[in-house]
Amino acid sequence: MALAMLLRKLQIRLQLSLAKHRSLTGHSRMARRFASLVPFYEYDESHFFRADGAPEEVAAARRTGFMRLAAVFAERFKKTAELTGEIADGVSDLQFTSRYRVPFQFSGFVRRHLKAGSFVESSSGVTVTDLDGNRLYDLTGSYGVNVFGYDFYKECIERGSERVRGLGPVLGAYHPVTAYNVRRLLEISGLEEVSFHMSGTEAVMQAVRLARYHTGRTHLVRFCGAYHGWWGDVQPGVGNPLAARETYTLKDMDEASLRVLRNRRDIACVLVNPLQALHPNVSAPGDSTLLDSGRKAHFDREAYAAWLRRLREVCSARGIVLIFDEIFVGFRLAPGGAQEYFGVRADMVTYGKTVAGGLPVGVLCGLARFMRRFREDRPADICFARGTFNAHPYVMGAMHEFLLRFETEAVRSLYRGLDDIWNARARLLNERLAAAQLPVRIANLSTIWTIYYVAPSRYNWMFQYYLRAAGLALSWVGTGRLIFSLNYTEADFAQAADRILSAAREMQQEGWWWTETQLTNKSIKRRVFREMIQARWASTSPMGSISSPRIK
Ligand SMILES: Cc1ncc(COP(=O)(O)O)c(C=O)c1O
Repeated sequence: MALAMLLRKLQIRLQLSLAKHRSLTGHSRMARRFASLVPFYEYDESHFFRADGAPEEVAAARRTGFMRLAAVFAERFKKTAELTGEIADGVSDLQFTSRYRVPFQFSGFVRRHLKAGSFVESSSGVTVTDLDGNRLYDLTGSYGVNVFGYDFYKECIERGSERVRGLGPVLGAYHPVTAYNVRRLLEISGLEEVSFHMSGTEAVMQAVRLARYHTGRTHLVRFCGAYHGWWGDVQPGVGNPLAARETYTLKDMDEASLRVLRNRRDIACVLVNPLQALHPNVSAPGDSTLLDSGRKAHFDREAYAAWLRRLREVCSARGIVLIFDEIFVGFRLAPGGAQEYFGVRADMVTYGKTVAGGLPVGVLCGLARFMRRFREDRPADICFARGTFNAHPYVMGAMHEFLLRFETEAVRSLYRGLDDIWNARARLLNERLAAAQLPVRIANLSTIWTIYYVAPSRYNWMFQYYLRAAGLALSWVGTGRLIFSLNYTEADFAQAADRILSAAREMQQEGWWWTETQLTNKSIKRRVFREMIQARWASTSPMGSISSPRIK
């Protein structure tokens, strides 16, 4: 009997190991350990242009291009960069984002020469304007908040403020607009109760806390690479100084993960970020990790919907709470969010970003049996959740406007044929890029795009600077995430697409995508790995000194 139990335990442990993705992203502890071993080193000027072993004439073309671009940046973004420089030392966020725009070996040199500013002054249509008066096509989407265009949100905030002005910042009691918001959110989500929070991260925290409370189980399951905010339990890998002990990170879209859900007894909930459908098992693509051209993305709606259906089945059978984290994709993919888009219903859904009409918010909707924070039969056993600014009148006012406008024909019509429109736009741009023999391609999940690269290169991260010079505003993660608002007209899009194409042409002409047969993604990785070993040895050995790469 004891032996049988032991064997069963071993089998369940083995199933867990088999359900981990083979990448470092799938192994949070190992990833954190690996990250702590990576030594700092950076390229000196000569190595900067030849990190892939390109011949001297190619390096010279790159240097000329780089300095030309630096002159363009210095002139065009002068005021914006100056003000950014003035405060950068005192703003941790700016220091972090400017350091992590490109791979660290290149970062110092880039920061000294290509000063990307972090200020904008106004927005209109699909553009933002910086302090130098540059009007840039906005591809940042404001982290996904901007679904309907900035003017839409300005109106939500203005009209919403008018509605609640009489009450002002009174907290605790609700402004009457909240009643409509609650009704609409329950209709949209198809769920029974709602709670308001101040950020998406908090809404996710509350969902998981409630799932643990009601199931009496400890662990949450998230899928490899998925982002759910920056709370420790949902960010168990690099970025979190502590290991998350009650989190399982499993392979997305994989039978082995379903086996774990079927057999373990400690799983309270499964968190799904449907954005992962674009790149299952891979973290949100940022240009600072663009070592080579290994970035891959591809969206298959039916395959992901089938996966969600199976997940739904297993969760229902095992009493596991299925949580859709729609903070990014809710209201963007379809009026009913990912639940409608993929045709699968969750037990709890989180919303955020866009739903408060441009003001900060997190929303959790759920079935009543999972949302309740107390037990009828055990009054002292509660699940606590508060937040000073929850349901702030101004947030509720802007949300009210958002939800009213959301019902209008003008907004509803934006969803008609949405995927067809954006898939066609991506396809056409890909055809143009291929015809021009440029190594750049687009993968998209509706209006959420990622750029990937089809020829091995060490310099793809430079593309973000060419795009900025071409008048496109990107978020700090660069080409990994382009977010379009639904109000991009054909003419707006044609402008943005032309700029993407001309930026790629320029980058190619200036030698960055030089290639030869020996240059492969594998050879690039091997080279970088060798550099790291060399840098680590040099920094620990009393005799060590290497000329290239340079150690700081
Ligand atoms: C899917 C998802 N969940 C949670 C969050 C966290 O939301 P917030 O940044 O409002 O805390 C984000 C933010 O990007 C997100 O995309």
